[in-house]
This record gives sequence, C-alpha cells and structure tokens, in this order.
Amino acid sequence: MKAVIIGATGGIGAAFTEKLASRPDIEIVHALSRRPSVQATDKILPGQIDILDEPSIQDAAKRIKSSGAPQLVIVATGILSDGEELQPEKSLRKQSRHAFERVFEVNTFGPGLVAKHFLPIMPRQGRAVFAALSARVGSISDNHKGGWHAYRASKAALNMLIRNYAIEQSYRNPDFITASLHPGTVDTGLSKPFQSGVPDEQLFTAEQSAAYLLEVIDRLTPAQTGKAFDWAGKEIPA
Ligand SMILES: NC(=O)c1ccc[n+]([C@@H]2O[C@H](COP(=O)([O-])OP(=O)(O)OC[C@H]3O[C@@H](n4cnc5c(N)ncnc54)[C@H](OP(=O)(O)O)[C@@H]3O)[C@@H](O)[C@H]2O)c1
Repeated sequence: MKAVIIGATGGIGAAFTEKLASRPDIEIVHALSRRPSVQATDKILPGQIDILDEPSIQDAAKRIKSSGAPQLVIVATGILSDGEELQPEKSLRKQSRHAFERVFEVNTFGPGLVAKHFLPIMPRQGRAVFAALSARVGSISDNHKGGWHAYRASKAALNMLIRNYAIEQSYRNPDFITASLHPGTVDTGLSKPFQSGVPDEQLFTAEQSAAYLLEVIDRLTPAQTGKAFDWAGKEIPA
C-alpha cells in the first residue's frame, strides 16, 4: 500500500510518517511538507507541498500519481495560534478578519484543495482512505464552552467538506472512505501554549496519537464514510 502524509514535519504528521514506514504492508510513504526537512529512507520519500499554493499541491499530486495510486492520504496540517499575531479568541470582541482568513486558509481551504488534486489520483476500486486531522471542538452539537471562534468554525467547515467528499467519492468508488479525525490532546507545537489545564494522562505523545489513529483508520468501513471520529474510534457528532 502507498501512503501520503501532508504536513510530515508537524508533530502528528511526523509520527504518522514513522509509524507507517515501519509497517510491512506499506511500500512507500510520500512525506510532504513545506520545508525540505524530512529525512529520506528506503520507504520514506520526502516531497514539497504548500497547501496554500494550489500549483504546489497539483505538482505533488502529479508526481505521486506517476509512481502509483495511493490508497491512504492523511492531511495532518493545521494552525491554532501564531505568537502574538494570532491567538484563539476568548470572546467575540477579539475576532478579526485577519485571524479568520489565516485560520480558515490553513484548516479548511488548504485541505479542500488537497482533496481537489489528491482524490482523483486515488483508486477507483477497492478500499482507500482520505482522512484529515480535525478537532473535537469542530463539533457544533458538542460545543458547550464557546470561544476559539475561528479555529472551531474552520474545523466544523472542514468536517462539512469531508462529508461532501464522501458523497462525491461514493459514486466513483463505493469502497472509498473519507474521515475527519480528532487526535486527542497531543504534545506538539500546536498545543504547547494551551496545555496548562490538561492532566498528564490526557496529554498524548504524537507517537501514541498516531498509533491510535492508524488503528482507527484500519477499522473504518465504507458505511462510516464522511464522519468524524476520535482517537478511540468513537464517532463525534456533527
Ligand atoms: N496537538 C493537538 O492537541 C491537536 C488537538 C486537536 C486537533 N489537532 C489537529 O491536528 C493537526 C496536526 O496538529 P499538530 O499538533 O501535529 O500541529 P503541528 O506540530 O503544529 O503541525 C502542523 C503542521 O501543519 C503544517 N502546515 C501549516 N501550514 C502549512 C502550509 N501552508 N503548507 C503545508 N504545511 C503547513 C506545519 O508545517 P511547518 O512544519 O512547515 O510549520 C506543520 O507541519 C492539526 O490539524 C490540528 O488542528 C491537534
């Protein structure tokens, strides 16, 4: 099986890349990232992608297509904060167009454009999975705390895209699965500034989270396509 990780330099993306490369059923992992800092091995093939730059997504998909259709694509990119310039909003007064644009372009538009160029190069027959890392806070019905307006809304919108792609892909390949995945609270650069209230036992390492999520992905069936799941395989309501 050939796999693609988009965001292979991220905490969880790097862990996915390593875990997949250690599996005997995986022939090759295309490890795509903005910066060329992924180490090549006999199974890990690094490549460039910037999910905000559509031609770079198109080029990456073309290159990968020429070496055979990938049965698994995981979008592991995302943004929550960026120093003083971008912080999750604690109240509606803190909202800004700038924050909405930055967060939506990485968390929603980017994965959408990845889907545009990668779904068509995935198999037309047999089981194949396109998964994107979302977040539990993207669930509208499970939102009891509020806040984090741009991030929550960008992940809710991502979940809607994943559901839409499930419907479109089911005509092309009835065994195709799309999924939004919640990795848990994971010790990475993204969560670092927000870990203070998280009990140790609820903070996963990236390796733990990637291992749990790969088990979840392996168990998903076409009947579950288009839905959101957490690291334990439990469905998250829309
Ligand atoms: N960590 C958690 O607790 C947690 C909880 C819930 C959901 N999630 C979700 O899990 C996903 C992965 O998060 P993480 O914790 O692994 O964060 P991370 O370590 O900050 O990784 C994020 C990755 O996104 C990449 N990225 C950002 N913009 C990009 C662009 N324009 N083109 C290509 N790559 C881009 C970054 O690339 P660079 O390395 O080049 O910066 C980085 O590799 C995110 O979607 C996040 O929302 C995480």
